[in-house]
Amino acid sequence: MNPSPRDLCHNLNVENGHLTFAGQDTVALAARFGTPLYLMDEDTIRRNCRQYTEGFARLFPAGSLVLYASKAASFTKLCRIIQTEGLGLDVVSMGEIYTACKAGFPMEKVYFHSNHKTQADIQFALEKGVGCLVADNEEELLCLQAEAAKRNRRQKVLLRITPGIDPHTYAAVATGQVDSKFGLPIETGQAEAFLALALQQPNLFVAGLHCHVGSQVFTEDVFERSAAVMLAFMADMREKLGFVCEELDLGGGYGTRYVHSDPEVNIPEKLSSLAAVITAECRRLRLPLPRVLLEPGRSIVADAGLTLYTVGSVKQIPGYRTYVSVDGGMTDNPRYALYGSRYTCYIANKMDEPRDMPCALVGRCCESGDVIQPQAALPASTGRGDLAAVCTTGAYNYSMASNYNRLPRPPVVLLQGGTARIAVRRETLEDIVALDV
Ligand code: LLP
Repeated sequence: MNPSPRDLCHNLNVENGHLTFAGQDTVALAARFGTPLYLMDEDTIRRNCRQYTEGFARLFPAGSLVLYASKAASFTKLCRIIQTEGLGLDVVSMGEIYTACKAGFPMEKVYFHSNHKTQADIQFALEKGVGCLVADNEEELLCLQAEAAKRNRRQKVLLRITPGIDPHTYAAVATGQVDSKFGLPIETGQAEAFLALALQQPNLFVAGLHCHVGSQVFTEDVFERSAAVMLAFMADMREKLGFVCEELDLGGGYGTRYVHSDPEVNIPEKLSSLAAVITAECRRLRLPLPRVLLEPGRSIVADAGLTLYTVGSVKQIPGYRTYVSVDGGMTDNPRYALYGSRYTCYIANKMDEPRDMPCALVGRCCESGDVIQPQAALPASTGRGDLAAVCTTGAYNYSMASNYNRLPRPPVVLLQGGTARIAVRRETLEDIVALDV
């Protein structure tokens, strides 16, 4: 017996043999908008936002803020949804800043991260009035001081610190350990030197500290441990440098369920236990409670997304494997190719049939690594023209899409209350050559 889609996520269901997403028939959506197609469920995005904002209002001091990590997915309509839910934004590039500006996002609630900000990036951020820059290293800090001085401004900054914690996730997304390209470590004394340097800059206001240990994290106590390490560092720095840390940003990373066997992460419970640790540690260290920031990306948008494809061929290699190919692939979802990520796949127009055919769901790109899922289970009758659905694709799919093989990127369609509207249009062949001169 296959577990039901509804058990994977509340916004999936089956009606008349068809997969529904956000209450709408995916077969009808594919017929209307074509494939490959990204769908995003607005109500789920809002619901995920509220799990954080309600928890924050209950648990953390006034001025604490949830920042949506726009690297997970960024387009103007999404920025507007995030804005109306009262979150701030974590951005990492001029492109993400520009998207926020275009959406009319309040720039004072934008935090600019990245381990490599060019002078042009810093100038752009200051021009656009980005509220806070999260300095990653000393060179960047000094560049920021110079640019703020030119504008005769005192710019709010956080400093990125590595707490020395291994989040036990896949290597490409682990960032909290000492050996990392991000931030400066406590262990080596570099974090202290960084803070001392920052405090000497007349045009910078060091509001606090930032860390991010990793992404797709399920391990019980990672955030609590990093909070404890950061608070101990704060207490030490108060003593040594007289620094009072007003803001503690613990980054993003709560995991999302991609397959039925993944654990469920209960965000309200996680926030409660995190708040308990922060409160107890502050009391023990006699520190004032800082404003708390978190930067969820995946846990806001991943389960709000679903991708639809049309099946092209079903190739059985006897004694080996069956390959089901679709009209997209690593260009719209590179996550299996990059990280071996798991996904739940269905044939959306054959939901009443047993999924009894083990197969690899593969893309159309010209390389063998173009696999969406190597061990999918689909109905034995799967064939050309069927509609394949890949669930939980709202995070790091559209935002990591490419034009490899000169494939146009799919559109993003936002679903809400029975309506469907295009948020990002489908790329055309003209778009593909638009930059060629
Ligand atoms: N804050 C910082 C500083 C980050 O580096 C990240 C993610 C986040 C917040 C958001 O983390 P989330 O809540 O989404 O886990 N492309 C990879 C994920 C890369 C994550 C990079 N940083 C993937 O597809 O799994």
